[in-house]
Parts: sequence; structure tokens; C-alpha cells
Amino acid sequence: MRRILSLAAICVATSSLFADQITLVADRDNTLYQSETGSLSNGLGSHLFVGRTAQEDALSRRRALVRFDLSSIPAGSVVTQVTLSLHCSRANQSGPTAVTLHRLLADWGEGASSASGQEGAGTDAETGDATWLHRFYTTQLWTTPGGDFAAAPSASTSVGGEGVYAWSSAQLVADAQAWIDGTAQNHGWLVLGDESEPATAKRWDSRQNESADRRPSLTIVYTARPAGGACCLPDGSCVSVDADACAALGGIHQGDGTECGLVECPVPMGACCLPDATCIETSASECAALGGTYQGDASMCMDIACPLVLEPFVDALPRPAVAAPIAGKAGGEAVYRIEVTQFEQELHRDLPPTTVWGYGGSYPGPTIEARRDAPVTVTWANELRGPDGRLLLEHYLPVDHCMHGPHTEGSTPRLVTHLHGGVVPFEFDGYPEFTILPGQETTYVYPNIQEAGTLWYHDHALGITRLNVYMGLAGFYLLRDDEEDALDLPSGEFEIPLAIQDRSFHPDGRLAYPEMWMEHFFGDVILVNGKVWPYLEVKRGAYRFRVLNGSGSRAYTLALSNGATFRQIGTDVGLLEAPVPLASLTLTPGERADIVIDFARYPAGTELVLLNSAPAPFPGPAGGGVVPNVMKFVVLDEPGHVAPLPSLLRPFEPIPEEEAIAERSFELRTFPEACAGSHWLINGLRWDDVTEVVRLDTTEIWSWVNRSGVTHPMHMHLVAFQILDRQNFVISAGQVVPAGERMPPAPNERGWKDTVQAPPSQITRVIARFVGFEGLFSYHCHILEHEDHEMMRQFRTVPRADLNLDGDVGAADLAILLGAWGQADPIADLDGDGIVGASDLAILLGAWTG
Ligand code: C2O
Ligand code: CU
Ligand code: CU
Repeated sequence: MRRILSLAAICVATSSLFADQITLVADRDNTLYQSETGSLSNGLGSHLFVGRTAQEDALSRRRALVRFDLSSIPAGSVVTQVTLSLHCSRANQSGPTAVTLHRLLADWGEGASSASGQEGAGTDAETGDATWLHRFYTTQLWTTPGGDFAAAPSASTSVGGEGVYAWSSAQLVADAQAWIDGTAQNHGWLVLGDESEPATAKRWDSRQNESADRRPSLTIVYTARPAGGACCLPDGSCVSVDADACAALGGIHQGDGTECGLVECPVPMGACCLPDATCIETSASECAALGGTYQGDASMCMDIACPLVLEPFVDALPRPAVAAPIAGKAGGEAVYRIEVTQFEQELHRDLPPTTVWGYGGSYPGPTIEARRDAPVTVTWANELRGPDGRLLLEHYLPVDHCMHGPHTEGSTPRLVTHLHGGVVPFEFDGYPEFTILPGQETTYVYPNIQEAGTLWYHDHALGITRLNVYMGLAGFYLLRDDEEDALDLPSGEFEIPLAIQDRSFHPDGRLAYPEMWMEHFFGDVILVNGKVWPYLEVKRGAYRFRVLNGSGSRAYTLALSNGATFRQIGTDVGLLEAPVPLASLTLTPGERADIVIDFARYPAGTELVLLNSAPAPFPGPAGGGVVPNVMKFVVLDEPGHVAPLPSLLRPFEPIPEEEAIAERSFELRTFPEACAGSHWLINGLRWDDVTEVVRLDTTEIWSWVNRSGVTHPMHMHLVAFQILDRQNFVISAGQVVPAGERMPPAPNERGWKDTVQAPPSQITRVIARFVGFEGLFSYHCHILEHEDHEMMRQFRTVPRADLNLDGDVGAADLAILLGAWGQADPIADLDGDGIVGASDLAILLGAWTG
């Protein structure tokens, strides 16, 4: 708004720099008739006279007076040209004579006198008329009879016969200028003819003449000065406007008549962040000229940490190495030892090396290649040491002690690794309390009893997961099987995992993360596989990308810069039934998408950018908080994987809703809390409140009821689930009231999931078969800031025969079964044959633990 106003003001000032021209008709004229009485006049007559009549006596002089009103020319204007025109309607025969204009020095009048006939003799003056003796008949006299005027003529023109005559001169300009400037009073000019001899009279037409174009006229060319004066705008620039306009522009007016070129407007200064993260204090325009980012007026460098501006697409995309086993072979049954250490890694060409934590010496960690039914054993070791080689006692990042975990454990660098998406026994699941300290290790066995999928491993320590993952603790775990192999999907060099994460850096390369817990953390640069905005050279063919949103809070809506479609072939934990064409793909934290992008049709040299458009927080106003660049693909002139993608990938059978024996509902929202102010919780309960006890080999429906403004990616351990539907709700009298239809999941969500987007004001229902292992398993929001905030709880799995959910199978359960004998009771009908009987009793006794 301010900018528009100031532009308008400049336009006004600019247009007035052009010359203006105005033509005025006399506003007063009269003739002085020399006579015996000295009191003749001709105020309203049609004519004016100059020179002398044919009478030989000394009383034959005629002088004309003419005046023009210059008040329509703005004060301050500069006059450049003045032309007075008179029409001569009768001249004596005596040849051309000089007729001169003299500036009148005293005021005079035009009364109501009007001479008759040829008007050459005048008539008796009326009140207020100018006469030979009077300025104003009858009361005021000239000092000198015949008029008081400047002796030196202002202009002279030779007048012969009839016609229009013009007077123009520098002195006329000076006269008009003085009148406009108010340095002299405007009394007009006296027109003086040749008075040296008789019979020199000339008759002119007056302002009362019936021919308008014959009346005395004055043409003035002038340049108007901008009205008002200099106005200093807040940005230090200056415009010429009046005081009111200046105030409207937020400026300070320097007074009428002041000029922009002559006043010095104060230029505001502030801190300016230069691209190399140094800071100088200067003006906004100077800052822009240096390629810096101005931090605002009066900001100071001492208060500001300037970010390093990193150039995108200058580093090649790293491919995490395949983890090397200490026994067995990668891609099959194998034994690994993976140490978590602290080291420095280069995350961008122009960024000093960054201290990170990594599995197996790299960030992200090495990719574990696994095969269905071939168990993988990993010894996870906490080998975090400082530069001095000593085991770390303190976390590298500041730890907020309000969190559950740090509130008792302090800032110790605790670690525990979770295989996200894995069907894993309780003791190997990365239970958030089973953390190990530097110098400790723990051995987990992953049975891999599930279909192929894009799993990943990451840290899960209670209350500091966000910090440990931010430091770098994440890696891929690609589980494969024979069915997937048979599809001939792009593989080897054409299959690349992409871990997308956001980070912020200090200029010295250190990771930046807030000291106090924050609702969300959004980094200002995007890393893929541990490089800031990398590029990847691709051959002309199809690539399979295992895309992981490994960020703490940031969602991504990914699309190619040319708008081309790509295909999603798999979800979190398995292949889709068929490829789903997509123009964009949204992944919230923890989610994965298995996608295929085909570069075959692009000429060599084509560059495509993988762009992000998801607002942060998500959802949110379009564009809000978005970091648009993710990575760039550069097409090479080499053939790639050209085998077509199969149209059928893997059969998908929806779990029938009727199979569910329980439905549970979970409200997602914040609650007041003493230490941190408010707390993200599930059903208002916390980690230690275990209220969900699920019998193994049963099916349940879980509903995520999001009573907040952001999407929560809800993740369940142990199980893969299917999304049933989403439904809007409203809050009425404090209650959740569903509104509208249940909406089916998007085509690319119709597969096996372990993390689901639960959007605001919707009920998101998922259905899961709880198979696998007894124990305690986490379920939580995968926004790591929320997870650490106890938007993480746990469910307990018990044997199916544990009818009373007390953790063992014994006499009490037997009593329940016998009580339902012969009935269709779904709880006690352990084999699901529709009736409680001997076969169920046999199952219960077989599971007997006493
Ligand atoms: Cu990927 Cu329990 O988390
Ligand atoms: Cu998990
Ligand atoms: Cu959340």
C-alpha cells in the first residue's frame, strides 16, 4: 500500500515538471484621455487608444491601461515566456511607430463609463474609473498626471496598420514573474504610443469588444513547481508533496518550498546478512546491492545469527552404502554390528563439516538388505565419543528436561533402535525405555516374517527421539521377497532410496535446533541422503525410488518441476496392487512411498527438479513455510532401465470390517501441562497409561479423531494396517459428531500402511490384524516433537486365549469359556467357527500358562 501511494505521489510531481501555457484575457482595461478637465474615461467602451489625436494642442494624448489576473498560475511557478497581444482596429496614416508597454506602479480602476461613437473623445468618468488625473475617479489621483509607470519600457513593438500586434520580451517575463512571486504588485501595463507629434493615435480593441478574439490577451508559458515541499519517506527517499500527502506516506515533511535535491533525508540502517553468513549494518538498498538479506530497520548484527545461504544442486546425491555383515551375507540371513558414533560429515559443498551422529559411521546409516524369512541379527552399540575419544556423558544438543525421559534421565545420550515397519518381538522392537548409554550395546533379532517393504530404522529413546534422529540416526532396511523379484522392477543402480529430511545450520556448520521443546521444528534446508539439495544424474530409463519422509515435523508434497506424472508402486510396508499414476505425492513424517520415475523420454541434458509444496505446519495456508527445492535430476545420454512396469504388482485383499472384534477411538489434541505449558496427548493419557490390551490373532478398528489443526501421522508398531476411511466431524456441546460421508482412502493409500495421515477435524479409521508377538508396543504420532511430548502411548498384546486380558491363560479364562459354552460368543470363539465348543477349549488348554 505504501509503495503504491508513493508511486502516485511521484507521478504527480513528475507531470508538473512539464511546461504549462495559459492565455488570459485582460481583467481590466481603460484609456486615459488628456483633456481640460482630466476626468474623461471609457471603462466599458469597446476600444482603447494610444498616441495623439490630430488636435494640435497639448491636450491630445491618449494612453491605454491593461491588466491581467495572474492568480491562476500557481505560486512558485517559473515563467519562461510572456506575450501580450492587442488588436489594432484603426491606425493613422502616418506610418509605423513604436508602441511600448510600461509596468504600472499604482493601482487603477475601470468604472462604468462608456464613450459613444468612435470613443476617441472619451466620456465623463464614472466612480472608480481611471482618468488622466485619477487612478480612481474621483477620490484617488495619480502622483503624476497621465499615470504612474516605469520609465523604461518592458517591451516595444512597431505598429503600422490594422492587425494583431504582439509584445514579448525578457522584461515582460520579469514583470509577470515578479507579480506571481508577489515581489511586485500587479497593476498591469500602460500602453504608450508615439506622443512626439499629433495625429499618431491608434485605436485598439478592449476587453469589452464584441469580437472575443480581438480582446487584449496575455499568453504565459510557465513551469509549475511541485506543490508543497520535500517529504522524507521512512526508507530515506524523498518526494515532493504537500504536508498532508507526506503524512499519508508516513513521511516527515520538510516544509513548503523545500526541495528534495537540497534536503538530506535520514536513511534507516539495520543488520544485513551477507551470503557468507557475515553481518554488516547498512541501509536496505546497500544490503540488496551486496546480495544480502536486510533484517529490518534498527536491527543489529549483535542480535542476529545470519544463516549461510547454500546454493542448491551442487553436490551429487549420496547413496547410502549397503551394510556389511560380520557373518552371513547381505540380502540374506546375516549378523551385523552397527555402532553409533559421533563424527564430522560434509553436508554441502560450502558448509564447514557438520558434527553428526550416524549408524555405521555415516549419516544416514547404511542400508540393511534383508530377505523374507531370513532373520537378521544386529548388535546396536552406543559408541558415542567426543573428539577427545571419551564416551559422551552429555547429549550433543540441548535437552529439554520437561520431557518424559529426560525428566529422570537428564541429558544423557541414551539410544535405542527401532525397526519401523518391522513385525518384531517386543524385546527387539526398540522399546523407548530400553535405552543404552555410551559404552553399552544390545543385540536384536529381526525375524523378517512379512512381505517385502521399505522399512527403516531409527532411534526411539524416550523423550529425546527428535534430537537423536536430528543428529542423524536413521537408515533404510529394505526387505525383499521372491514375488517382488519376479516383477523385474528397476534394480541395482536404478533403485535408489531417498531419505528426505530438513535441517538448519549455524554458519560454522553445526546443526541448529532449539533448546526448548517446540510444537514443531522446521529446518530451512532440505537434505536427501545427508546432502543439502543434491543432484542425481540419471540414465534414460525408469528408476525406483524408495522415498522416506525422515523429517521431524515437516510434511512434503512432492512433484516434478515439469509436472510429469510418476507412479507409486508401494506404500509403507509393501507393494500396491497396481501402479498408481500421480502428479504429486504427500508424505508426512515416518511415511514411505515406493515410486517409479521414468526418464526415458527426456533428451540428454534435461534437468528436472523434485519440488515440495507442503506448507509447514501441514496443512496450512498455501506457500506458508514451504522450502520448495528437494533435489534435481539431470538426464544423461545413456540408456537406462526400459522394461515396462507390470500392471499388476501384488494382490491386495481388504480386511473385512466384520472381522473386527473391537473398535477403539483416540482423540488427538493438546492438554494443559505444568512444565511445558501444554502437552500433545492421545485421549489425554500418557505413555505410562496402558489401557489398550489386544488379544493376538484378533482384528480391531482404530479411529484417530484429530481435534487439532495439524495432520498427525499416526504410527503403530508391530502391525501393518489398512486405511478404512476418513470422515469429517464437528464438535457439538464438546462432543465429536461425525458429519458427512465416510470417504475412502486415496488410491495410493490402498495398501499396507504403518503410518497414516490423520487430518484435522477428521476421523481416520484403520483396521489391523494383531499378529505376532506378545508384549508392549508403541503407537504414536510420528511428528517427533509430538512423539517426545507423549503423543506416544503403548498397547499390550496378550494370547488370544487370555480372555480376561490379565496377561496369562489360566483358570479364570477357562471359566469364561465354559460360561459361553455352546454360544456364538465372539470373545470365547477362539477358532472363529461361530460357536464356543470343544475346539476352542483345546486351544485354551494348549495355551495354558496357569
Ligand atoms: Cu518410526 Cu515408533 O517409530
Ligand atoms: Cu515403528
Ligand atoms: Cu502429532
